[in-house]
Amino acid sequence: MSVQIKKAVFPVAGMGTRFLPATKACPKEMLPVVDKPLIQYAVEEAIAAGITDLIFVTSWTKRPIEDHFDKNFELEYKLEEAGKKELLNTVRNILPKGVNCFYVRQQEALGLGHAVLCAKDIVGDEPFVVLLADDMIYCDETACLDTMINLANEDASSVVAVEQVPMEKVNKYGVIDPIDLSDRLYKLQGVVEKPPVEEAPSNLSIVGRYVLQPRIFELLENTQRGAGNEIQLTDAIAALLEEQAIYAYEFDGIRYDCGSKLGHMKANVEYALRHPELNGAFREYLKGIVS
Ligand code: G1P
Repeated sequence: MSVQIKKAVFPVAGMGTRFLPATKACPKEMLPVVDKPLIQYAVEEAIAAGITDLIFVTSWTKRPIEDHFDKNFELEYKLEEAGKKELLNTVRNILPKGVNCFYVRQQEALGLGHAVLCAKDIVGDEPFVVLLADDMIYCDETACLDTMINLANEDASSVVAVEQVPMEKVNKYGVIDPIDLSDRLYKLQGVVEKPPVEEAPSNLSIVGRYVLQPRIFELLENTQRGAGNEIQLTDAIAALLEEQAIYAYEFDGIRYDCGSKLGHMKANVEYALRHPELNGAFREYLKGIVS
């Protein structure tokens, strides 16, 4: 039976140590790519896929995320007074009407699995998606999340996004043991978090997009600490696989690992080249410094 998936969980409690000192007082999800914070890209992607309820798993240092999706009366008043209509629309319409935000605190940094579990009572007994804002996804046509939701709806299964990475990098990710089904679609027969390179079942690494069935919550409640001494979402997915079918979708697009400095720089350069206001001047500037 197909259920309309309308809830998205955004785990945003992580400390962002790879970006210190920038992230000392600013959440890493608020780091900009050109002119929008990372979290806004993820939220827009979810809304484009039909999500209406945004559930942020935050911590006490992440208040700017709540402010970003809230109204800012003073700013709106000033922009209106100055006749800056375009900017006014930009800050007013970050979220379309009918989209709701929920915030829940993850009180201790016990890992991604624990963060997702914090959203249990808000999600309830329905399938949902998880988006990791660190992973920016750029898709031209077949939107990644849309396709994943349709796949999950076909037989009430769960779906993870994957991409191929060089074998020496598999130890940074969740890695699937795949059975090829068709172009870009795999069925999981196993999944493991951050395996040593020589033990990895493939080079298909999980990207931060998941469609999950609610049974995952009960499994998370019983998930012990795993890789990095954290409660891993991947380990609960491995347990879910014992009971239900799980698929992996190798999306057709680019993933920017904005949790790393290099990935974040690449995203900034490439989004600037696509940005209508910047692309000409920025392209010329790049040509100049590269030559
Ligand atoms: C998390 C997940 C991992 C996944 C990755 C994608 O790892 O645990 O399975 O491959 O996100 O970005 P983290 O980046 O938090 O170490």
